[in-house]
Amino acid sequence: MSQSPRPPLPKLVPENAPFTTEQRAWLNGFFAGFLEIDGITALPLEANAALMSRLVPAANGPLDGDDGEAPWHDPALALPERMKLAEGRPLRRRMMAAMGQQDCGQCGYNCQDYSEAVFSGAEKRLNLCVPGGKETARTLRALREQLGGAAGPASAKVPATTPTADVTAAPAVAPGASRDNPAEAIFLSRTRLNKPGSEKETWHIELDLADANIDYCVGDAFGIFPINDPALADAVIAALGAPADFLIGGRRLRDVLIEQVSLGAAPDLLFQLFSYITGGERRHKAKALAAGEDPDGDAATLDVLAALEKFRGLRPDPEAFIEALDPMQPRLFSIASSPKVAGKRMALCVDGVRYRVRGRTRLGVASTFLGERVRTGQPVRCYIQKAPHFSLPRDPAIPIIMIGPGTGIAPFRAFLHERMATKASGRNWLFFGHRHSNYDFFYEDELAGMKAAGVLTRLSLAWSRDGSEKFYVQDRMREVGRDLWAWLAEGAHIYVCGDAKHMAKDVEGAWVEIVAAHGARTTDEAIAFVANLKKSGRYHQDVY
Ligand SMILES: Cc1cc2nc3c(=O)[nH]c(=O)nc-3n(C[C@H](O)[C@H](O)[C@H](O)COP(=O)(O)OP(=O)(O)OC[C@H]3O[C@@H](n4cnc5c(N)ncnc54)[C@H](O)[C@@H]3O)c2cc1C
Ligand SMILES: NC(=O)c1ccc[n+]([C@@H]2O[C@H](COP(=O)([O-])OP(=O)(O)OC[C@H]3O[C@@H](n4cnc5c(N)ncnc54)[C@H](OP(=O)(O)O)[C@@H]3O)[C@@H](O)[C@H]2O)c1
Repeated sequence: MSQSPRPPLPKLVPENAPFTTEQRAWLNGFFAGFLEIDGITALPLEANAALMSRLVPAANGPLDGDDGEAPWHDPALALPERMKLAEGRPLRRRMMAAMGQQDCGQCGYNCQDYSEAVFSGAEKRLNLCVPGGKETARTLRALREQLGGAAGPASAKVPATTPTADVTAAPAVAPGASRDNPAEAIFLSRTRLNKPGSEKETWHIELDLADANIDYCVGDAFGIFPINDPALADAVIAALGAPADFLIGGRRLRDVLIEQVSLGAAPDLLFQLFSYITGGERRHKAKALAAGEDPDGDAATLDVLAALEKFRGLRPDPEAFIEALDPMQPRLFSIASSPKVAGKRMALCVDGVRYRVRGRTRLGVASTFLGERVRTGQPVRCYIQKAPHFSLPRDPAIPIIMIGPGTGIAPFRAFLHERMATKASGRNWLFFGHRHSNYDFFYEDELAGMKAAGVLTRLSLAWSRDGSEKFYVQDRMREVGRDLWAWLAEGAHIYVCGDAKHMAKDVEGAWVEIVAAHGARTTDEAIAFVANLKKSGRYHQDVY
């Protein structure tokens, strides 16, 4: 019996991988045997890289010719700018550029790990990036399509996640240690931090962790799965024209809408669904919106209810409608207490997000859940997002400089409590700022007490709307630049918390100016100095 010729070994190892011809041949054979495949033809280079990255973690570096730099890793850059900076890079790097660049952890990864997981196929959900929102999900989808039917990323044909996918992910860790396996905390109380007359609505929130059996460290963030405003769910049901008790997977439509899905930005899939069930001009518009276009200039304002209203009269099947929505994502809040002082009574500092669009007040789902809807005694699904990059120096004698305008003060209240409880000898300097000194001076009495007690060595304040011109924390920093430089020279660690888009960047700019002015350096040297502070773990950021 004649034997058919043995097919050539598959080329699983990229040609540019740093191996000799013999090594490459051996590795190709080894991986083919390992994967029980025989005779498949050469895969596209990027699919090879995906496979390699799953089999050989070290392959995630220079194997695909990438230099490992990430010039797009700046939350202040818009997505098109980030994608431009990543042009010509391997697909997995372009996937990273599509992320929100905040390394906020809300997706359960940092930006790079999320992109690697999507690229390798280990993570199938493309809509986990809260800061990146729809833009990121859409770009990731397009990039994943470029992987086509390649064997590597098995995710290429997997549809966007269904609302239940998030909830049913297999728990690999203890309850409360990850978004995939939340625990339950009990809501205790809310107290408004602004005085009457303030334009802001910021809450000191307390939750009881006693039954949740979870521990945290100062600097960590608290993840919560919020619950939608029932009034919004009812408005969606009315616009959908479906019965509230329509059963979906054994649950009432109303309950699914309140607890399981996001009613924020309308996802592309929803417009796709609309395009299937309507015709003519409306179909064209729905298709355009599903493709990320903006035919009427209103795309950014279309939450789920506004999308239903825009396509008034369409009656999608409630089950298909729910499947087209994104699952509810958790939100993170910096923890504002120290377990050494507060025990299991954990605190947050939450700014209520509320804004009007075309006559309807839109509510930030998590901040208004905590700020107005959740009742005392009600359980809240939660987890701790560890933040080892944002912890206090191990040596309690090291001085710290904390810059936290607005809710950015949250982790610094926790730091101060911790340093007080541990009788840390290091000096503590806090820069706080907000709109008005009369209304928005959070924890004023408490800070005064800590100052009197010598725990808070210095408190520097900046009120942006007290005067005729804006005055920010970085303006105050420049005023006291000489002292800041002296603290730095004595080994102080810097911590920055709060707004990522503007404040964090501007504060970093102020540091560069201070280092240049008081450290006798050129601007380039000062930039390198600050970059080095970051690299050496002395410049910590927790920005959102
Ligand atoms: C590590 C980390 C720590 C954090 N710590 C804190 C903290 O201590 N305190 C705190 O308050 N927040 C904190 N946040 C932010 C927090 O997680 C939420 O993002 C924030 O509360 C808003 O969530 P939400 O669900 O209320 O709003 P969402 O429902 O997510 O709505 C917010 C969205 O609404 C839109 N929007 C908001 N304002 C407007 C406007 N004026 N016009 C048009 N559109 C608008 C934007 O698209 C925005 O993304 C932190 C975030 C991270 C990642
Ligand atoms: N995406 C954004 O553009 C953006 C911006 C700010 C806040 N937020 C979000 O709003 C929520 C809560 O904010 P918050 O209550 O903590 O307060 P905040 O809105 O961040 O404001 C706190 C203080 O910071 C000031 N500020 C504004 N721009 C600044 C800058 N470039 N540098 C330094 N300080 C600056 C504000 O001044 P003025 O308001 O008077 O200018 C205010 O006095 C957070 O969820 C945050 O992510 C988003």
